[in-house]
Amino acid sequence: MNLIKKRGKVKALEDEIASMESILDFDKVHNTHCGISHTRWATHGVPNEVNSHPHRSDESNEFIVVHNGIITNYKDIKKFLENKGNKFESETDTEIIAKLIKHIYSQHPTYSFRELVEQVIQQLEGAFSLCFKSIHFPGECVATRRGSPLLVGIKSKSRLATDHIPVLYSKDHRPVGFEMPCLPRVDSTAEFHTSNENEEVEYFFASDASAIIEHTNRVIFLEDDDVAAVKDGVLSLHRLKRLLEDSHAREITTLKMEIQQIMKGNYSSFMQKEIFEQPESVVNTMRGRVNFENGTVVLGGITDYIPEIRRCRRLLLIGCGTSYHSAIATRQLLEELTELPVMVDLASDFLDRNTPIFRDDVCFFISQSGETADTLLALRYCKARGALILGVTNTVGSSICRESHCGVHINAGPEIGVASTKAYTSQFISLVMFALMMCEDRISVQPRRAEIIQGLKHLADQIKEVLANDDKVLELAKAIYQNKSMLVMGRGWNYATCLEGALKIKELTYMHSEGLLAGELKHGPLALVDKTMPLIMIATRDPVYVKCINALQQVTAREGRPIIVCEKGDLETQKYASQFVEVPHTVDCLQGILTVIPMQLLSYHIAVLRGCNVDCPRNLAKSVTVE
Ligand code: G6P
Repeated sequence: MNLIKKRGKVKALEDEIASMESILDFDKVHNTHCGISHTRWATHGVPNEVNSHPHRSDESNEFIVVHNGIITNYKDIKKFLENKGNKFESETDTEIIAKLIKHIYSQHPTYSFRELVEQVIQQLEGAFSLCFKSIHFPGECVATRRGSPLLVGIKSKSRLATDHIPVLYSKDHRPVGFEMPCLPRVDSTAEFHTSNENEEVEYFFASDASAIIEHTNRVIFLEDDDVAAVKDGVLSLHRLKRLLEDSHAREITTLKMEIQQIMKGNYSSFMQKEIFEQPESVVNTMRGRVNFENGTVVLGGITDYIPEIRRCRRLLLIGCGTSYHSAIATRQLLEELTELPVMVDLASDFLDRNTPIFRDDVCFFISQSGETADTLLALRYCKARGALILGVTNTVGSSICRESHCGVHINAGPEIGVASTKAYTSQFISLVMFALMMCEDRISVQPRRAEIIQGLKHLADQIKEVLANDDKVLELAKAIYQNKSMLVMGRGWNYATCLEGALKIKELTYMHSEGLLAGELKHGPLALVDKTMPLIMIATRDPVYVKCINALQQVTAREGRPIIVCEKGDLETQKYASQFVEVPHTVDCLQGILTVIPMQLLSYHIAVLRGCNVDCPRNLAKSVTVE
């Protein structure tokens, strides 16, 4: 078994492998029919080669493992293993897994690879998806998950003989301590084949479908505590007997995702492509849901729950990062159209506070990936307290989808750039559609509904108009990209744009940036304003426009030179601006969809000018599956 690790981009690993060609038996490396790999986002220990996965049981690589997630009880297990004479080489939680499986193997050398893994996961607390290899079981691979996502891709030339795979149940006892006598053995009988017995089938274990879509679109989403084993070209799925409450088979899902959808096309980065895709992605979000002729809005995934939702005590919108900002952007409209109290929370803070939750609460979990650990834990917290759980995600089959009672797929298409762009506008629209659905029967709000539906109808064309300002935004970026800090200010319907715009700047350009509520300016942030501080003001012609102008005057009185995002042809506002970007007029509650786009473009251009990696900003991950 060869272990090859490199710090930095995957390219560095490719180069390393190429340079090792002479040392390794390269044919063997390339012809091997079973291998595992991993890209690590540091949780325990700095990013370096020693802390990178796979982790190993010992110098001869008897067992190796890759891990996505966090093992919360790793210190106890580490102490136990150290007492047994193990020496640890990394600072990670993962290394204990490789050493623990070897320890169990040394006690039970007759166990199968899969049985050893079943023993290991009974000792682990926290979140994990794991994939194992071992020199004792050549050509075999075993994978399992709890809390972190894992799927199995199945590639075969001929039709699959089945659309589901039976789950085999292993008898078990709860293990006692680490010196457990281990589980009684079980015989596996059912296995999985294609219609053509002679054909070789390829299997892929992955955390995310986009990693394997170029090979196959047929996948099985594993459930918590499933153990999947590939041996002699055959896949089998297992669970421990005490988990029998689950269904007895796992379905094979055919994904609709196309390879072109996740390719960059003519764009220089995925993020740029995703920004420019928004005229189509917003239409995809509304497709088949908003009827512009008769003004009906139907979200199929929640229709049956609408009467129950109308009777609820309050709505809670919970998410992280950009997804949280989509909740802020739509809160006011939800309050207006549902007449319910609406709470908006960051998932991590929500959990820290042990927020009281009741059976008659409706909790929205907003997440592009559907896998964000903080959001998922908040979901489980609310579900355990009897609330109705509504998922708003972009990833069919994700954990949040599967664990929600009902929900909306935002249908924005795969988002690859770490910084979220098109998912934000689609989440925004999904929540607007929900608000429209909730007030369908209220006569008094019909004019308002009609106005919003008209606004939605023209959105795609208006986004195109905003994107046409790209060159102008590039000029702006050139003027400010060397600054250390930037303020983004607005209020009311545009406050979320300020937070989201500032987050984009931070994530992508590593420049300090703050989103400010214009009403708070005089309570502190005004002290930051002078003629050198770049300040962007979002000011559209909505009910808080006059208040925005007051804030602008406070800024110009301190020699501030605001860059203003304003409505097309608004000469009066442009008078205050050192520079400006225009967006078309739309109904107030949708204005944030148009005003966020110049901020996405600006952060993109500043990042390029500063030489930053646009798709993979340092220290960040697309899907954060650790708490
Ligand atoms: C990470 C990403 C952000 C994203 C956030 C929430 O921090 O870097 O771009 O907004 O997670 O992700 P989710 O998939 O739950 O929307």
